[in-house]
Amino acid sequence: MKQNLQLSDDGKLKHFLSIEGLSRDLLLKILDTAESFAGMTEQSVKKVPLLRGKTIVNLFFENSTRTRTTFELAATRLSADVLNINIATSATSKGESLLDTIRNLEAMHVDMFVVRHAISGAAQFIAENSASHISVINAGDGQHAHPTQAMLDMYTIKQHKTDFSQLKVAIIGDILHSRVARSQILALNTLQAEEVRVIAPKTLLPAQVECLGAEPYLNMKQGLKDIDVIIMLRLQKERMKSALLPSENEYYKCFGLTPEKLAIAKADAIVMHPGPINRGVEIDSSIADSHRSVILQQVSNGIAVRMAIMSMAMQNMEAKA
Ligand code: CP
Repeated sequence: MKQNLQLSDDGKLKHFLSIEGLSRDLLLKILDTAESFAGMTEQSVKKVPLLRGKTIVNLFFENSTRTRTTFELAATRLSADVLNINIATSATSKGESLLDTIRNLEAMHVDMFVVRHAISGAAQFIAENSASHISVINAGDGQHAHPTQAMLDMYTIKQHKTDFSQLKVAIIGDILHSRVARSQILALNTLQAEEVRVIAPKTLLPAQVECLGAEPYLNMKQGLKDIDVIIMLRLQKERMKSALLPSENEYYKCFGLTPEKLAIAKADAIVMHPGPINRGVEIDSSIADSHRSVILQQVSNGIAVRMAIMSMAMQNMEAKA
C-alpha cells in the first residue's frame, strides 16, 4: 500500500483503509473521538449535524450483519444521507465493472464510499480511482484488513483494561484467513501492547507470523497462560481452498474456548469475538453468554467508533476541497 494514501500532507485522516502506517497518536485520537460520541446513545436525541448534507454509500460486495448496519446507524447519527447498494440486485450482476459502478455513483455527487469486498486491496483501488473529494472507508477487503473492526475492538479493550502497555492479548483461531486478526495485530502493536500472541493449529497460521508482530503458539495450555484479553475467531470456511482441519469436533476439542481452557487465562480476562460466532465450534455457549464475554459490547461500540472515523475523514476532505 502507498504509505500515505489515507493521510493528507499534514498527517490527517482522509481515507481509512488499513491500520498500517497510522501513528499511535492518530489511533488514540480515534478512540478519544469515539468516546465523545458514545454518550449520545443515552440521550433522547441521538443525532449530531456533523455530516448534514453529505451522502454516504454503503457498497457491500460481501455479506455483513454487524458492519453494514452499524455503519448505517453511525452515518444516520451524524445526520448524513445513506445509500445502501444491494449488490445482488445492482448492475454488478449484469456485468458492470467496479470502476463503472464507482463512476456512476460519483455522478450522483456522493461524498463517501464504505466498501466491503472479497478482493484484498479493493478499497484502496476505489480510493485511488475516486474523485478527490470522496473519502473511502474499508469495511473489510479479502484477507487484508478490517481496520474499523480493529478500532472498535481496541475501544472495547480500553473500556475494560485502560493501559495497553500492561496487556497480554491472545488471538485464537483461523489467523491465516483473518483480515480482522491482521488489523488487530497492527493496532495492538501500534498501541504498544505488552504482548500479542496468536494461537492456532499450524495449518491456520500464516507463514512467518512473527513478522506481523505476534508470537505463535500451537496449543491453548501454553498460549492462554497470563492472558488479559482473549479474542476468538471463527473458521472462515468460505476462504479455505482445501481441508485444513481433520474435523470441527477435533478443532473444538483442541482450540475451542471452554470453561476449562478459559481458567488458564488471568481470572479477570475478557473474552472477545468480532462475530459472527459459531457456538460449539470456536466457543462454548456458556462463555459466549457469560459475564466474561464483551462480544455484544463490541457491536454497540461499533457505532461510536465508526462515527468517529467517518467524521474525522470527512472533515479532512472538506479542509482539502
Ligand atoms: N465482524 C464483522 O465484520 O461482522 P459482519 O461480517 O457481520 O459485518
